[in-house]
Amino acid sequence: VARELGNLPANICTPTYLAEQAVQLGSKHKSLKVQALNEKQMLKLGMGSLLSVGHGSLQESRLIVIEYKGSSKAGSKPYVLVGKGITFDTGGISLKPGAGMDEMKFDMCGAASVIGTMNAVVELQLPINIVAVIAAAENMPSDRATKPGDVVTSMSGQTIEILNTDAEGRLVLCDALTYVERFHPKTVIDVATLTGAAVATFGDYTSALLSNHDPLARELIEIGSHMLDQAWQLPLAEEYQSLLDSNFADIANIGGPRAGTITAACFLSRFTKKYHWAHLDIAGTAWLSGAQKGATGRPVSLLVEYLRRQKA
Ligand code: BES
Ligand code: MN
Ligand code: ZN
Repeated sequence: VARELGNLPANICTPTYLAEQAVQLGSKHKSLKVQALNEKQMLKLGMGSLLSVGHGSLQESRLIVIEYKGSSKAGSKPYVLVGKGITFDTGGISLKPGAGMDEMKFDMCGAASVIGTMNAVVELQLPINIVAVIAAAENMPSDRATKPGDVVTSMSGQTIEILNTDAEGRLVLCDALTYVERFHPKTVIDVATLTGAAVATFGDYTSALLSNHDPLARELIEIGSHMLDQAWQLPLAEEYQSLLDSNFADIANIGGPRAGTITAACFLSRFTKKYHWAHLDIAGTAWLSGAQKGATGRPVSLLVEYLRRQKA
């Protein structure tokens, strides 16, 4: 499922299409409750950061929420997955180069892996509660598009100076990460094709892992090697946080040319203080280029095995 969704072209796989896939899955299983928030509902929630990404597109952004209830224990807190669902990433006004831009249809592979994982979870009937949230948008340049220098207010209340509209994944994820606070999660794992720097660092074999809770990181590393779906940790050190300083907002959306995978995770960490959180940057591992061009379905096996090992 994750590979098929990943391979679909962006003229078919839009944010609305992803929402329809989730709703369809929900209608087949009593253990699932699916909701797809539209832009009006997200505006009410104050998701100015997420909405800024899809503003240049005719395709409406969506926040897709899939709740799986497998635990019979009263009040059992859920494990939460969050997926980046950029159905096409042109870069926006900070436009990407033309060569290879077709591959940015894969920029929803985080979302695809989360939907793939939920398919497996319902079939396995895991005895825990899980919430999957997908932040879906299309990143396009237009006369309505967000411009470099624009300042937006996230759902958390923190203001963001958007210095580069191509660093859009973190902008949709931060509002989704604030949204999931309401579920009082046991853990939150976000999955995202977030940085070219992760490809430069790890190639196509290893996903980048950053976390604010070392036991969670260690568990994911162990399961990754067990499942042949390797992830390896980078430091989420305080020392990198100042790279995101802005003169005009609480935080900038880029940290400069160095340590790109780490500064992207530092950005997300400003929105994940209330729970144990791990971030998987799958920019290198979610698809292959060249003659084997296509989605890999990673890291579904890592996520499914992680959930399979958890207790209600
Ligand atoms: N979707 C891309 C990340 C990406 C780039 C994945 C190349 C695979 C290959 C992401 O939205 C992006 O454009 N990131 C920028 C961030 C930069 C502007 C700080 C990047 O990595 O170049
Ligand atoms: Mn981008
Ligand atoms: Zn992107």
